[in-house]
Amino acid sequence: MYTSKTNFLDLAKQYASPLYVYELDQVKKRYEELKTGLNYKQLKVHYAMKANYNLHLLKYVNSLGIGIDAVSPGEIYLALKAGVAKENIIFTANNLTNEEISEAQALGVLFNLGSLSEIKRYGELFPNQKICIRVNPDVIAGSHAKIQTGGPLSKFGILLEHLNEALSICKQYNLTVIGVHKHTGSGIKDQEKYLQAVDNLLAIVTPTNFPGLEFVDFGGGLFVPYHPEEKEIDYQKFAPAVLSKLLATNKLFDRELKLYFEPGKFLIAEAGHLIIQVNTIKDNNGHLIAGTNSGFNHLARPVMYDAYHHIENLSNPNGVTKTYDIVGNICETGDNFASSRSLPEIREGDFLVIHNGGAYCYSMGSVYNLRTLPAEICTLAGAVVYHRPRQSNQDFINKLYDTY
Ligand code: LLP
Repeated sequence: MYTSKTNFLDLAKQYASPLYVYELDQVKKRYEELKTGLNYKQLKVHYAMKANYNLHLLKYVNSLGIGIDAVSPGEIYLALKAGVAKENIIFTANNLTNEEISEAQALGVLFNLGSLSEIKRYGELFPNQKICIRVNPDVIAGSHAKIQTGGPLSKFGILLEHLNEALSICKQYNLTVIGVHKHTGSGIKDQEKYLQAVDNLLAIVTPTNFPGLEFVDFGGGLFVPYHPEEKEIDYQKFAPAVLSKLLATNKLFDRELKLYFEPGKFLIAEAGHLIIQVNTIKDNNGHLIAGTNSGFNHLARPVMYDAYHHIENLSNPNGVTKTYDIVGNICETGDNFASSRSLPEIREGDFLVIHNGGAYCYSMGSVYNLRTLPAEICTLAGAVVYHRPRQSNQDFINKLYDTY
């Protein structure tokens, strides 16, 4: 697992907690790894901004030459606000209304459409356009059932057996398919399954089906370790396997297709950390509970997906090891970051850091119980380059009903 050199304790003292820290150097490192690992000139990465929409992060990602995978008109507006060119945004929403289709079309982004209905409705509204289509790769993979997007029962993508229907709708409205996309799931540990999904996608990628094709998009889902004992992606195996499949497809087309990936977790999960403070220790007859100033409103992954997030005691790293439930301040029993976790003794006032807090943590946050979201900072080369303070309770409530 990635280990950070950032002094989180100093940051907690300076900026108060709960505090999200995003280390931008780590984002760059992962991007470089992907580029060198794959070593394909026509590689283009779109960051799945649903993972973390921090504006400074988006600007940084844009400065690296990474595009954006957006899933809602709101995400497109924010990407544009961050300075991303519309040509660098791919729009992969699902279950769009006609109003949303028109709104996004006016913003000039490329649509990646994942149902026959949406292709038809898009074609009726905007014939003669270029589009990408999203297919369901018919593979079930991902670190939890709730984040697997392939397979016969999934709401995502067009079933492979519906391809001909999709192509005839495209023909009817003169839509040119310039991209074919799949996203299999998130946190795919089993590389064989990833490669199977690539195979299933490429099986339909022929010049007869897609004469105007410019790119294939293998989606996100690239694995990152969350547990200290989990291993990183082995590029020595992964990259040649992906590339040999793509090169075979290139041969069919007699040209080099562009290769797109759209990682979220891979770029940002490990770069983020949530610093929280313990305020209440409870000893239920030997069962220790550490109560903190945060909760599942700030980091929902353990509650939503039984996800493991590594936690360290910043204030007492050499304390004697004890076993704790580490819980939040939300009024629900399930408000739990970790159960029966061994950590150096936790005392009231100690700061803890929850690692791998960059992806789907702040962005899935809420104001449940009317508690505001944490402050956020970004660091680059050890220096704090961006700080968004936490909203005060009073300010938050005033703005909540400011037009009422
Ligand atoms: N592309 C598409 C079409 C997606 O739906 C997703 C994620 C991605 C790319 C990026 O996937 P990633 O590289 O981050 O695995 N909230 C869940 C993850 C939900 C993923 C949704 N789609 C979690 O915290 O595990």
